[in-house]
Amino acid sequence: MYNRSLRGSKKPLLTEDGSMTLFSAEFNEPYHSDRDGALNESLQKHIYPAFQIKSKQKTLTILDICFGLGYNSFATLYYIKKENLSSKVHIISPEFDKGLIESLADFEYPKEFDFLKNIIAELSQNSYYQDEQFTIEILIGDAREVLPRLNRRFDIIYQDAFSPANNPLLWTREYFATLASLIKKDGVLTTYSIAASVRMALDESGFKLFIYKGKKIRESMIASPSMLQELKFIDMELKKERNPTARSMRDKEYL
Ligand SMILES: C[S@@+](CC[C@H](N)C(=O)[O-])C[C@H]1O[C@@H](n2cnc3c(N)ncnc32)[C@H](O)[C@@H]1O
Repeated sequence: MYNRSLRGSKKPLLTEDGSMTLFSAEFNEPYHSDRDGALNESLQKHIYPAFQIKSKQKTLTILDICFGLGYNSFATLYYIKKENLSSKVHIISPEFDKGLIESLADFEYPKEFDFLKNIIAELSQNSYYQDEQFTIEILIGDAREVLPRLNRRFDIIYQDAFSPANNPLLWTREYFATLASLIKKDGVLTTYSIAASVRMALDESGFKLFIYKGKKIRESMIASPSMLQELKFIDMELKKERNPTARSMRDKEYL
């Protein structure tokens, strides 16, 4: 499934909002949407939708799938600082590319992350950072092995894997069933994909689905085990009637 020999092969890519990302040869895909911009995409598709619902919570556990360049984790800290929130945050993030994590101290992040320099250096060295407000734990390994072993539940899950076409094992029905077992009853999952197969897999795993529309960016999705107020609900029964051939991806097709 994965091609380890290509894992180290990546090229820097400047995105539309001026922030840098990488292009992965292994997945034949950039880490972020070129058009949406790396920082902008992270804020608009993950941090704003999650914090629209969770900003008042005093403690937050966040599952960031997968760490990559860490934009979602770092943009979470950036947002909390900018909005002067006092939330205590524990982020857990699987990532199987150890070489990438070790290289992060040298990555050219946007100036918004300047205040995170020490944190990035420590994470790059130890895969771990902790202070009074923030804990970040990068779990080096395959997410499909790491996730079922986690014995805690999360308030927020950022589902930000490479696309279903290029990394199907992080979008199957069985995978989302694992996420369903890891999310709190009132937790929220954010994802950029609104593909029918992803909606089906989330629906079959007991998630309710909602459309999120950020500014000047394509629609993304929020999922939760609970009904969320003030968001546009996706009526999956109606979707299934209109598109009876839509189906979720299954592990057995890709293993
Ligand atoms: C789209 S990128 C993550 C984007 C991330 N939010 C960022 O800011 O860079 C996907 C990441 O998933 C990692 N990955 C892919 N499959 C994985 C797996 N099965 N287990 C752990 N990490 C995986 C890749 O190495 C890559 O770093």
